[in-house]
Amino acid sequence: MKILGIFGSPRRGGNTDLLLEEVLKGAEEEGAEAERLYLRGYSITPCKECHGCDDTGQCVILDDMEKIYPKLLESEIIVLASPIFFYGVTAWAKALIDRSQALWAKKYLLKDPSLGKEGRKRKGFFISVGATKGPKVFEGAILTTKYFFDTFNAEYSGELVFRGVDAKGDIFKKHPDALKQAFEAGRRLVLERIHNPS
Ligand SMILES: Cc1cc2nc3c(=O)[nH]c(=O)nc-3n(C[C@H](O)[C@H](O)[C@H](O)COP(=O)(O)O)c2cc1C
Repeated sequence: MKILGIFGSPRRGGNTDLLLEEVLKGAEEEGAEAERLYLRGYSITPCKECHGCDDTGQCVILDDMEKIYPKLLESEIIVLASPIFFYGVTAWAKALIDRSQALWAKKYLLKDPSLGKEGRKRKGFFISVGATKGPKVFEGAILTTKYFFDTFNAEYSGELVFRGVDAKGDIFKKHPDALKQAFEAGRRLVLERIHNPS
């Protein structure tokens, strides 16, 4: 079983990096094959809204997204990790999400069966942290992520989010059991998928 971890923070070794790494380790413990995708190492042009994908389901922009589309489709579980930047996901993550418009077109305009009800079902999970304690701090990012997952038939399987996390390493200091929770979330995602394959 393939699990894809999408690291959406520009900060190497930051809080979401640490959390997602634990999720993937937990998944590997249950036998999954984990792939690590560090968005900061990819060049992803923002969607140009040219509607070039409407008739083909293929994006006309030729850049690193060409390598990422197949990874999304080959994986049974996709985990997106992004810190909150201005009440949303990072620009790195949002560029990837907007470019999934090509998959949206394939699914909803072209009715490609591989992304329809009869197509392969996937699972999606979201990891995030924010510096503030605002009750709504994760709401926007969660909604965005849900609709991103929907483009490739990934059922939203929940999130692990932590408030009051700002400096590098705050995740250890402010939430001492966060990494353990992340490891367990990774194990659980794989076990649930094994028991409910589709
Ligand atoms: C450009 C920018 C915007 C941010 N906006 C928010 C915000 O709206 N709400 C919030 O709670 N934290 C905000 N933060 C704080 C980050 O979410 C926080 O530092 C987080 O721990 C970074 O995660 P990382 O270590 O995985 O990169 C922002 C940080 C940056 C750099």
